[in-house]
Amino acid sequence: MHELPVILFGVGGVGRSLLQQIVAHRSLHALRYGLALQVLAVCDRDGAALDPSHGLDDEMLCQIIAYKSAGGRISNHPLGGAQGDLAGIVDIAGRAGAVVVDCTATSATIPALLFALERRYKIVMANKKPLTSDQEVYDRLTAAGVTGGDDAAPMRHLGRSRWETTVGAGLPVIATLNRLVSSGDEVQRIAGAFSGTLGYLMTGLQAGQPFSAVVREAHRLGYTEPDPRDDLGGVDVARKALILARGLGRQLEMGDVAVQGLYPPEMDELSVDAFMQALPCLDDSFRGQVQSAAAAGKVLRYTAQVAGGACRVGPTLVDAGSPLGRLSGTDNLVEFTTHWYSPNPLVIQGRGAGVDATAAGVLSDIIELAYTA
Ligand SMILES: NC(=O)c1ccc[n+]([C@@H]2O[C@H](COP(=O)([O-])OP(=O)(O)OC[C@H]3O[C@@H](n4cnc5c(N)ncnc54)[C@H](OP(=O)(O)O)[C@@H]3O)[C@@H](O)[C@H]2O)c1
Repeated sequence: MHELPVILFGVGGVGRSLLQQIVAHRSLHALRYGLALQVLAVCDRDGAALDPSHGLDDEMLCQIIAYKSAGGRISNHPLGGAQGDLAGIVDIAGRAGAVVVDCTATSATIPALLFALERRYKIVMANKKPLTSDQEVYDRLTAAGVTGGDDAAPMRHLGRSRWETTVGAGLPVIATLNRLVSSGDEVQRIAGAFSGTLGYLMTGLQAGQPFSAVVREAHRLGYTEPDPRDDLGGVDVARKALILARGLGRQLEMGDVAVQGLYPPEMDELSVDAFMQALPCLDDSFRGQVQSAAAAGKVLRYTAQVAGGACRVGPTLVDAGSPLGRLSGTDNLVEFTTHWYSPNPLVIQGRGAGVDATAAGVLSDIIELAYTA
């Protein structure tokens, strides 16, 4: 049996589902791949539980999952203790072949991820923030283990890092991009809808609902963040667009992504309640945009577009009959227009969020790295 040591950062929705799936699929991994995943350490923001020698057994993992689900902190758990240095945890718990998995939503993991790569360990990221930090950090996080010197750096997907779930969650968006790039196909344009929340809003607008009503409904249903501006501002979609653009070899920073949100910047000053109250002032503008789009055979979508050297995120008019135009509800969709996939683009569509589908994507990345040197 090939032992595959795992160190996990982040035991929120995705991290807990990942641990559950590791436990649930033990016999499948053993039978199908001869693999035994050993979870050496599990960390939340200020605590860690570790067993560098044998790994935490399934009973311990289930205890931690239940404890974290109930709102506990690992620093207070009998199996855990306080930690303030994730690189230190990698140092103590890591061993040859280890996969360090980032299921947090913070850039504070960057030093530990880089340290893991220096140790020749492998990394899997569900977290977009490290990959949307400086270009230099992106390069180091993604090209480790790619042999052939600088010339081979574009073949990042053959290295010791995976980040499939950072764009479109479990959908194979990064894998598809990498395959297109490595085949030498010329990717002319990537256009995608990468926010289920904003997709829900666009569908509501198209059905004739006022902007204020559809935002309030999405908020009530828990589709938006507690402050809906975190979704409406477009920054999360911009991070995904930057990851795709960098995947194409573009040297860009977050500041180079043109982001247009769905509300004017002066509404940033308001409290959440005041923002929700003020939403109707945007209704007429959106109604007008939707109506004039329909008159021209178009629909309004919130898209990320990577074309030429530019990366742009915001409300866009697309042909009603195009894959993006036909999209409705919370699904994600990405169109790759390339030399070989033109005029009809290569299209990937499906659920682009959800902790279980995301965790399954993370697990798939881990398994893919199992036998990578
Ligand atoms: N949820 C989805 O559908 C989805 C889809 C695609 C990608 N993702 C990405 O997956 C990641 C995890 O998402 P999630 O929904 O599981 O988030 P979450 O529920 O908010 O969990 C985040 C976890 O990270 C931990 N954390 C925060 N700061 C930390 C630090 N400095 N060191 C160590 N751990 C730290 C938190 O610790 P505490 O428990 O102590 O607070 C928590 O356990 C995010 O980057 C997200 O963007 C999520």
